[in-house]
Amino acid sequence: MKTKITFSKDTKNQIDHKIFGNFIEHLENCILGGICDPENPLSDEKGIRKDVLELCKDLSPSILRFPGGTVVGIYHWQDHVGPLNERKKMKNIIWGDRLCHEFGTAEFVEYCRKIGAEPMICVNMPTGSAEEAAHWVEYCNGTDDTYYANLRRSHGYEEPFNVKYWCIGNESNAEPDLGWQHDVNVYIREAWEFVKYMKLTDPTIKLVFVSHDEEWNRAVLDSLSSVCDYMSVHCYARKPDYGFIGRFVERNLAPVEALIDEYNKKEIEFSHWYRFPHRAEPIKIALDEWNIWSHNFSETDRYGLMDRYDWKSALWVAKFLNMMLRHSDHIGIANMAQMVNVIAPICADKDGSFRQTIFYPMREYRKHCGTALLDVCCDCENVDAVGTLHENGQITLFAVNTSGDAATAELELKATAHKVILCDSENLINDMQNDYVKVFDAPADSDTVILPPYSISVIRL
Ligand code: AHR
Repeated sequence: MKTKITFSKDTKNQIDHKIFGNFIEHLENCILGGICDPENPLSDEKGIRKDVLELCKDLSPSILRFPGGTVVGIYHWQDHVGPLNERKKMKNIIWGDRLCHEFGTAEFVEYCRKIGAEPMICVNMPTGSAEEAAHWVEYCNGTDDTYYANLRRSHGYEEPFNVKYWCIGNESNAEPDLGWQHDVNVYIREAWEFVKYMKLTDPTIKLVFVSHDEEWNRAVLDSLSSVCDYMSVHCYARKPDYGFIGRFVERNLAPVEALIDEYNKKEIEFSHWYRFPHRAEPIKIALDEWNIWSHNFSETDRYGLMDRYDWKSALWVAKFLNMMLRHSDHIGIANMAQMVNVIAPICADKDGSFRQTIFYPMREYRKHCGTALLDVCCDCENVDAVGTLHENGQITLFAVNTSGDAATAELELKATAHKVILCDSENLINDMQNDYVKVFDAPADSDTVILPPYSISVIRL
């Protein structure tokens, strides 16, 4: 198999590295028993699993979303801050078991700092209030001599947490979930109160609103576009079906892109009586939950969330990342759901932890991606390539070969480095004992590179 990979010299748009994010939720053993495992000898004195932390540092997501997900509907941040013995041990009535009170706001922000991620918080609309959310903002970001900023200080955190990204609700349209906000008019009316309280507390925060169908999105933007920094879009594929990505773009992503383009052209009318500034930059998309989620329900996996990913799934993830890069003029944030155990690149049980196959494309794309997108053309249907330009003028191409045959790729410039990530078969699945993924440097220094069967190539030009 032969292919030619060509690219334009001009860049298309800047790439926001916040597209390489992850998500953690109080759901099964993502946080409790994954990130935080208080009784486990593998954990530190605060209950943080040291082995899992090392894997998360290696993954190093650019942004981390917390505490949900669906669970935000019962999450009251004040139950989980301060001295451990004063925190409330609450039942997790959404997903079962209990909320991990040992891992509250401060522990989340500390975790983000350790793994190099920007914190992103989702507030509780269904059973919380705008005032409670604003107090959370003050607890995180307050610098004055005021109650919630002082509360943070009294918990040992003198410096503000500077949490910039806040999601106003999660999948609020979903009828099975808690809350009255399934009705878009209720969502808008209540979201606006959250905006006012939260922005009056810290005018610099960036807000993410829930999107759904065309009618919902238009209504939200008609009312809130002046304060909307991001529209949240979620995307779950049932299996590693490559065709799904194109259908998702056509049916779900492109309509939101067209809509935000329309609203980005409109002039913002904003009364100065609101006492906080309106949005200053174009609205973007936060693809703040995405992954393959197979829904394999069983007695030990009541919500079918413990997916084990084969190498084909990792190739799918690489192709999904290529798609996101191509749409990086519109996508400003993206969070693979989730980070540990629950539909996740990292798995842990009480005895150890390991990297799933999908860990590898996430890590390598985040590490090697440039800052601007190039227009790349590849004439082979089994090879999917994107190109990015670095500030120093170097180029990185990501090429995914989904076929069982090697492809010889002719490039316009000489490759100076070629990293290959592959498994010997599409069907291999990592576990606690076996990591089948091979990452190695292939020969470079030529304008021809070999893309092995079922491989991801990171090519530096
Ligand atoms: O990621 C699992 C769940 O999927 C989240 O809680 C919810 O937001 C989505 O439906």
